[in-house]
Amino acid sequence: MTASVTVRVPAKVNVQLAVGAARPDGFHDLANVFLAVGLYDEVTATPADTLRITAEGHDVDRIPLDRTNLAARAAELLAARHGIEPDVHLHIVKDIPVAGGMAGGSADAAGALLACDTLWSTGASRTELLDICAELGSDVPFSLVGGAALGQGRGELLTPLPVGGAFHWVFAVADGGLSTPAVYREFDRLTAVTDVPEPTASPELLAALEAGDATALAAALTNDLQPAALSLRPDLAATLEAGTAAGALAALVSGSGPTTAFLAKDPESAAEVAAALLRSGTCRQTRVAQAPAAGATVL
Ligand code: C5P
Repeated sequence: MTASVTVRVPAKVNVQLAVGAARPDGFHDLANVFLAVGLYDEVTATPADTLRITAEGHDVDRIPLDRTNLAARAAELLAARHGIEPDVHLHIVKDIPVAGGMAGGSADAAGALLACDTLWSTGASRTELLDICAELGSDVPFSLVGGAALGQGRGELLTPLPVGGAFHWVFAVADGGLSTPAVYREFDRLTAVTDVPEPTASPELLAALEAGDATALAAALTNDLQPAALSLRPDLAATLEAGTAAGALAALVSGSGPTTAFLAKDPESAAEVAAALLRSGTCRQTRVAQAPAAGATVL
């Protein structure tokens, strides 16, 4: 019998996040261009008497270690579908910033799902795993798939996208977190008197990704949640300015924030931007990472 299974899962940045009007179910239709970046959480599944979660790494005191953790729910959903008990110990080694808009919680859910699926030899198809991911959260399917993809619907309907080269990113980790529902509520408030257009993917952005052209990608980056995130966290504007002043090709809020993302032209420039951001005192920590990165992978 397999003693334990470890899965590595990447973080993401949204290179385009086009948000439509609120739907009757409260979600928003999106054109969400996900790019997986090389910052990873690892989830190890080991047989146990009952479902339990432990975690190590930065800020793990801020993640729940009970059944409200999305990783636990992933194990429970998979077990229920296959008529087995979710008796597993999930150990999460966190390197993705917590509550930062980089899909760390979604990564842990996708990692737990793949680890349990492998440990229990359920034989679930890729489609079934993606269905469970979509049930767990809008960003979870992408954490499983990785690379680059266009997410439509609430973000869960994925179309893989070609990427023609490596992109160099710097992430500035802010103090505290931002609640995703709160940021979407602020988006609704800020757009209440406007006609919100149907979200569509930008052809220029897709072409820049395919060409591996960082300058063209920088010109096409957009995040419709950014005004809402900045409205809730005005201090993030100074971080964006510090990264741009240090030579980043572009700066934006990552997803619903508060992590901010900076695209650099090469690894040297990324290191300079990261150092300047730290010196600026406008963020708590910086991380440098390349994209695209592979999706959830059994180690
Ligand atoms: O799907 P997920 O659980 O990650 O979504 C968290 C919250 O973010 C939702 O409850 C909703 O408030 C908001 N959301 C949204 N539209 C989306 C995705 C998320 O309004 N497409």
